[in-house]
Amino acid sequence: MVISLAKRDLITIEDLSNQEIEAVFALADEMAEGLREQSNVCRGMIMASLFFEPSTRTRMSFEAAMNRLGGRVISVMEMRNTSLAKGESIADMARVVGSYADIIVIRHPWEGAARVVADYADVPVINAGDGGHEHPSQTLLDLYTIKKERKTLEGLKIALWGDLKYGRTVHSLAYALARFGATMHFRPSAGFEMPEHVIRKLTAEYAGRLERYNGPKEEKEKGLIPLDAIYVTPSGPHQLANIPAVGIQIELEKGVDALYVTRLQKERFEPSAEGLKKGYPVVDKKLFKEKGFKETIVMHPLPRVGELAYEMDSDPRSMYFKQAAGGVPIRMALLSLLLGCKTVDIPESKVPSFAKKMEHPVYKRETGVKCQNEKCVSVQETEREYIKHEFQIVSNEPLTLRCVYCEHEIHPPYIASSKWHQGLVENKRYYKADSFMLGRIKPENLIIFNSEEKAQHQGFKLGKRVKPVGNAK
Ligand code: CP
Repeated sequence: MVISLAKRDLITIEDLSNQEIEAVFALADEMAEGLREQSNVCRGMIMASLFFEPSTRTRMSFEAAMNRLGGRVISVMEMRNTSLAKGESIADMARVVGSYADIIVIRHPWEGAARVVADYADVPVINAGDGGHEHPSQTLLDLYTIKKERKTLEGLKIALWGDLKYGRTVHSLAYALARFGATMHFRPSAGFEMPEHVIRKLTAEYAGRLERYNGPKEEKEKGLIPLDAIYVTPSGPHQLANIPAVGIQIELEKGVDALYVTRLQKERFEPSAEGLKKGYPVVDKKLFKEKGFKETIVMHPLPRVGELAYEMDSDPRSMYFKQAAGGVPIRMALLSLLLGCKTVDIPESKVPSFAKKMEHPVYKRETGVKCQNEKCVSVQETEREYIKHEFQIVSNEPLTLRCVYCEHEIHPPYIASSKWHQGLVENKRYYKADSFMLGRIKPENLIIFNSEEKAQHQGFKLGKRVKPVGNAK
């Protein structure tokens, strides 16, 4: 089967199927065998490298990759050196840069910024990290490392460790691991737990099953016991899923395939944050003497800032520098595929594609419903004029809207229908979103309000009281 990824974007890891990920790896293997022999692959092509946040690995490995492929690089490393500093919108910048280059790689502090660039540039766009949202090309090299070491991506047990709230690498990685049928153990530092919207996606869209671990307090304080586990059960119940109380303990005693460590993303929150006072888990030799880690590989997207002891560097289980080195062949493969300079021919994959992208109804009426995430691109001053607030309706119980840019969720309290009022002012009624009226309104007719004032401002009156969903009285 010939795979072409020409003209595609990589904004989230969900933009690639499992088979396409495997295809990138196959090409990366080819590239790695002759890094210096690829100088004609992208000759004549230009990559725009836009890094509006600090980076060593991602920027340099993308630029090294493009240079190795025989292409050229134009780059910007600071916002203050661009017209963004004069108040230009990301959309305008994207249109212009897309007319100068054949592909854009962008890192930006606003969540959803890479999606906006992809919407407005006429060339493929790669998200090199958008705030605390996603970092999909990092996930490719993370999976590449895991596959090299474990010989498979299927059915692994992986512990994700540290700042799971703001760490964008773990969000992309968790989605990908779920699709390959992994069991994940989350061991966040207190206050830096995996965001609920990520958990929801893992459980609702990848058929994962969440278990909260409620073990003895002293065990948690020792920092050795992950707090949550996600069992992904795409084709049938997990073998331990029916005995939840002991499931996690049994899994831990058997050990995990990889421990993925992340640093505290200090740049994304106020230093007074509660979690900081409670310490941060450190991976060191002492921890790795535990029986459960005997065969465990240690991974880290880097940079490290104290959470991973230097004494681990000589341990054969430590993979983080090898992981970073994989960034060049992986990004060579990715660039050459998205630029259409390479296609790959792969046999029908045996890897099951669990990633059946769930289609959700979309809400984009202009009724004042906005994303509540202050780091979302859609609420930034310079972007307000043209960005239309857009959400997926991911649940009715309770009504849950997911921002299409940053994926944060909101639960607006009031609803109405566009169908029922039919232009007659006296028929315009709004209801509480937790009433059974929500189930009666077709998604295409749904009107959503953040407040009664907004509903009333648009001429709606409060409908007669209706019972909340699930209330039997
Ligand atoms: N892993 C990673 O994204 O590193 P940089 O921030 O150095 O690019």
